[in-house]
Amino acid sequence: MKYKGFAYIYTIGCQMNVYDSEKLLSVLKSIGYEETEVLDKADIVVCNTCTIRHKAQEKAYSFLGRLSKLKKKKPHLISVIAGCVAQQDGEKALKRLPGIDIVLGTQSFSRFAQLVEQVKGGRSNIVDIESKETIFEVMPDSSCNSKNEISRFVTIMQGCENFCTYCVVPYVRGKEKSRKPEAIIQEIELLAEYGIKEVTLLGQNVNSYGIKENDISFAKLLKKVNAVSSITRIRFATSHPKDLSDELIYALRDLEKVCCHLHLPVQSGSDRILKRMNRGYTKASYLKKIAKLKKECPKIAISTDLITGFPSETREDFDETLNLMKEVEFDSVYAFSYSDRSITPAMKFDGKIEEEEKRARLNELFAFQDFYTDKNNKKLIGKIESVLVEGASKKRMKTVNDTVNQSEGEINNFNDTIQMMGRTESNKIVHFAGNNIEPGMILDLKIEQAYPHSLWGTM
Ligand code: 5AD
Ligand code: SF4
Repeated sequence: MKYKGFAYIYTIGCQMNVYDSEKLLSVLKSIGYEETEVLDKADIVVCNTCTIRHKAQEKAYSFLGRLSKLKKKKPHLISVIAGCVAQQDGEKALKRLPGIDIVLGTQSFSRFAQLVEQVKGGRSNIVDIESKETIFEVMPDSSCNSKNEISRFVTIMQGCENFCTYCVVPYVRGKEKSRKPEAIIQEIELLAEYGIKEVTLLGQNVNSYGIKENDISFAKLLKKVNAVSSITRIRFATSHPKDLSDELIYALRDLEKVCCHLHLPVQSGSDRILKRMNRGYTKASYLKKIAKLKKECPKIAISTDLITGFPSETREDFDETLNLMKEVEFDSVYAFSYSDRSITPAMKFDGKIEEEEKRARLNELFAFQDFYTDKNNKKLIGKIESVLVEGASKKRMKTVNDTVNQSEGEINNFNDTIQMMGRTESNKIVHFAGNNIEPGMILDLKIEQAYPHSLWGTM
């Protein structure tokens, strides 16, 4: 195919946005654009945005604001604000970005190609945030893996109806809708054909997959994905603790391709705060599910999301969170200080915490977690771990053979062996030395060293 122009896509936010950006790129390719990673070369720029926290939203506006300079040099340049900020702000986005051509909401992706053609025909300032019940489906084609990746995201459901009081997702991503299992399997089979070995199934709450549609359960979907030959690993995110079923725990235990790793966001360890967040579980019921998981899958790695400084969180509430972290011993945590979002109920809650205090609690929480991350990493020393190879390490590590005093970092006296990296089932990065190793191979490596953010293994 002869391309007529270059497309630059800038993605902010979660894994689902990464997936959506790939689909938006496929649409652009189908109407004659080629991807570029050089902004100055672009004929169309799409900023796929996130509004989960204030900072992510402002990052999008600042990027698109700067784009106006490029537009002066290149008047034919088409600019698009897509995704969650576009859906949330609609017409308001035009006020902040007067030169923007398309405001493309999360519910309007299926009309993207038409809108680009309209801009080429002379229109500008188009706002399309109309909600549609249909699901945006684009199947991968032979150009989908030009970067020879081994791992891909596959969205299995859209939207969320849990309405946690701090969260914008139900407002900007709409009602929960599950894709048909046949479409998901077809997409994964195609990805496998184009060299993908690992898929991560995505949804805001994968545990409620198929329930509204009266289709198969998420555990049954996992079983179908497990049967796709040439896919060697399956991951998924995110699970909501209130809906974590025994059936899913058994699927994690029994399906050999499903990685022994669960991301189970708890948000807080205080029952009072959990109630105010509208999370639908208590600290005790969360811990009960963790106990069952650990019993059925002793090797399970557990990660979580936490928020510090939710309105009215006291020192005692925060201590409850630290207590929960001590009990669970998470492998890793993603933590955020509470960010006020204008369309959420929590915006109107009393007891707002000072920015400085929210940050101080966040830093304390990270420092507290370091001990458990380190403890879990060190538990692997001497063990054999199955590692899916991703490629050459970006930075070279000190190894057991280098210096006595080891720490993560670059070295100069590394021998000729190529340093590679891959991931354990628990999603921990392992660096190792080896020649003739191809991305996509699964190797059994002996873990020799544990660092704060990675492991060192030998073949
Ligand atoms: N402020 C801070 N963190 C938030 N998250 C969602 N909304 C907010 C907010 N308003 C966090 C939650 C969620 C993760 C994706 O982002 O921890 O699990
Ligand atoms: Fe947001 Fe809660 Fe839905 Fe997660 S479950 S996307 S935190 S509303």
